[in-house]
Amino acid sequence: MSSVANDPISAHGNGDLVDLKAPAAEHAALRAHAEKLPVVTLGAREIADLEMLSSGAFSPLTGFMGEADYLRSRDDLRLASGIPWSIPITLGVDEAAAHSVAPGQDVALATESGVRIAILKLAEIYKVDRQKEAQAVFGTADDAHPGAKNVTSTPPFCLAGKVILFADIPGRTFLEYRLDPRETRAKFRELGWRKIVAFQTRNPTHRAHEYIQKAALEICDGLLLHPLVGETKGDDVPAAVRMETYKVLLELYYPKNRALLTVMPAHMRYGGPREAILHAIIRRNYGCTHFIVGRDHAGVGTYYGTYDAQKIFDRYAPGEIGITTLNFENTFYCGKCGGMASFKTCPHTDADRLLLSGTKVREMLRAGQAPPPEYTRPEIAAILTRAMHGQT
Ligand code: ADX
Repeated sequence: MSSVANDPISAHGNGDLVDLKAPAAEHAALRAHAEKLPVVTLGAREIADLEMLSSGAFSPLTGFMGEADYLRSRDDLRLASGIPWSIPITLGVDEAAAHSVAPGQDVALATESGVRIAILKLAEIYKVDRQKEAQAVFGTADDAHPGAKNVTSTPPFCLAGKVILFADIPGRTFLEYRLDPRETRAKFRELGWRKIVAFQTRNPTHRAHEYIQKAALEICDGLLLHPLVGETKGDDVPAAVRMETYKVLLELYYPKNRALLTVMPAHMRYGGPREAILHAIIRRNYGCTHFIVGRDHAGVGTYYGTYDAQKIFDRYAPGEIGITTLNFENTFYCGKCGGMASFKTCPHTDADRLLLSGTKVREMLRAGQAPPPEYTRPEIAAILTRAMHGQT
């Protein structure tokens, strides 16, 4: 019987969570085998993808994509089998590396410092058009878009096949908050939660986040606060500072048995709507039944419309993604309402509303000015002000 059979939600795909971590008893032999193989060095994105693949967070993927999955996910937001999947997951290498290996062979995957951590059962080598990929996934191949730039600077030859992880990924942070999908599901069982809402974030928390999380919590048993801690763009607030804000928020403003904070190791792609689908699928694999999509989810600059990341789910038939999305309008503090509200619930004008952009908040912090309590809790503002001025 599947390990997730009694959970409130199955894994994406055929229902089972993928597991690509070799048992500990096999590690030494696999390490010795890997030492003799040709090696490919992984960058930050591929390391994060490897972690997501090996833990089952990317179920039903079992490795870096072959050409049929690549093309269909790029052009049709599905895998070759028809299962929804919105962003290609590839291992790109240059021409020389592609010509030095052949399908059927094992290849070692190593970190930038040369530590071999996984084996790729090389099934296929193919060449892609990265400009076309960026245009399809992000709606732009512009270098100013961090996700597009990351894709277009990835070499065009792809090595595809199943991966087997046989070592811990070095340099992983927040270990006590790092539960993989199996461990997260076990935790939900222990807590007795059956309706679980997941919240994706890559920013320090503020009142709008808290408001939509708590609105969702009113109809769910528990909240998984699931910040992305893979690589983010240079001007995003570092994960270590963000984690402090999440911890303090939960400590001071949430009941202990209703919210769980753990980290999500994926790389941030800034893919807006397409990434919202991926984020939802990932949270289903972690055992969540509901997923929050607010305004400009996973967006960057002005590349996407405010609610594009909500609308894109209409491409799929009900139930295909499995997890239920909870859409939220742009929310803010309104002086006349005397509380948090949204364009859906507040009849007043912008003059009554506190609408602060991320840029404005960064400017205030840089000037040593704490954002107002209607925007963010004072304890959170204090963490951000200290971090901005290099104090811990
Ligand atoms: S994201 O890149 O991870 O989406 P962020 O951490 O800012 O960025 O947002 C986390 C989630 O909260 C997303 O679903 C986003 O749409 C939502 N969100 C953020 N701010 C607001 C807001 N003021 N009103 C409604 N939803 C919001």
